[in-house]
Amino acid sequence: MRTQVVIIGAGPAGLLLGQLLHKHGVANVILERQTADHVLGRVRAGVIERVTMDLLDEAGVGARMHADGLVHEGVQICVDGKRHRLSFKDLTGKTVTVYGQTEITKDLMDGRAAVGAATVYSAADVILQDFSGDNPRVSYRAGGKTHEIGCDFIAGCDGFHGISRKSIPASAISTFERVYPIGWLGVLSDTPPVSEELIYVRHPRGFALCSMRTPTRSRYYLQCSLAEEIESWPDERFWEELKPRLDDEARDRLVTGPSIEKSIAPLRSFVAEPMRFGRLFLAGDASHIVPPTGAKGLNLAASDVRYLSRALIEHYQERSDAGIDHYSARALARVWKAERFSWWMTMTLHRISDNPFDHRLQLAELDYLFGSKAAATAFAENYVGLPY
Ligand code: APR
Ligand code: PHB
Repeated sequence: MRTQVVIIGAGPAGLLLGQLLHKHGVANVILERQTADHVLGRVRAGVIERVTMDLLDEAGVGARMHADGLVHEGVQICVDGKRHRLSFKDLTGKTVTVYGQTEITKDLMDGRAAVGAATVYSAADVILQDFSGDNPRVSYRAGGKTHEIGCDFIAGCDGFHGISRKSIPASAISTFERVYPIGWLGVLSDTPPVSEELIYVRHPRGFALCSMRTPTRSRYYLQCSLAEEIESWPDERFWEELKPRLDDEARDRLVTGPSIEKSIAPLRSFVAEPMRFGRLFLAGDASHIVPPTGAKGLNLAASDVRYLSRALIEHYQERSDAGIDHYSARALARVWKAERFSWWMTMTLHRISDNPFDHRLQLAELDYLFGSKAAATAFAENYVGLPY
């Protein structure tokens, strides 16, 4: 079998790339290790930048997001029991949309099914071959048989634990990493959100976040230790730990209820460079991870895909490799700025250090953010998404 681009991974990065390429006549096959149901079962962040929305519209899968997504004009930050609001709309003229990543994945899967493009789910033992030469191939096992696809390019969209990045010789790739000694314990519940806008909470007991999916479904997070086990967090304990971190008004308004999902996620910053090795390109979590503070993960995956899809389309339609040659540098310039912002939000809002000096610095950062239009604008500009 032969195609133009083999895409490894059917997360948001792989599915969006597949959809954009298909729209421009570039043939592609997606190989995904898991089943479609498994991919749809993962709960992830849900704040979509305007530029990401534009790209989903371009891919023809934006209708449900426009109908059901919640437009947010600002965000709230609660510092030791006192709430402050930052208006993106006033500061940048822009807004963000709250719409779950699971829903985006579903819209992309439906879009792909509607155009009849090929996705192989439950593809085991994916192996990338000869991507440093001119004839790359990808083999995999499915239905008890080994299959091989020849192609022009391979797109590694297989997330942080995928095979694509690991297939690149160690001498050809540099990695940069910061691991934070904390995790986020997340709960999804069918209860009305405590506020119409997200509340990021900085508190001596640790960070918390009040988010949402719909007007009747909430998503809450608590900073927790990495040693924490999910079994030690019955719903009651979660709500009892959330309450003291909130301000009085939020505590009064909080509606608790049974969780419908609960998980612990570690926080990590990671970048692998470059994002191209011969005919293999990395995109999304395969090449970088941000801690969830700021919700940049999906948006960064989308910006990589925007650069990569345009580069590949240019290769086929205009016979120019300029986009391909610039892909890594262009994508990384935006990646590093989002790494910086996510790191900054993480370090400013979490209880990470026991050194009182660091606590005072956090308070000074936040005081400056609320008191300076320049600082607030810089925050808002990053939160709504930097231009491409
Ligand atoms: N072979 C085939 N598929 C694989 C392999 C493999 N060896 N390894 C991983 N995969 C698949 C995973 O099962 C997953 O469905 O690749 C997909 C990667 O998807 P994501 O992890 O969602 O990564 P990405 O598409 O880059 O999306 C980035 O999603 O993970 C969140 O927080 C992240 O918001 C960010 C966004
Ligand atoms: C979420 O709703 O899951 C969410 C929102 C904002 C973040 C992280 C996660 O910064």
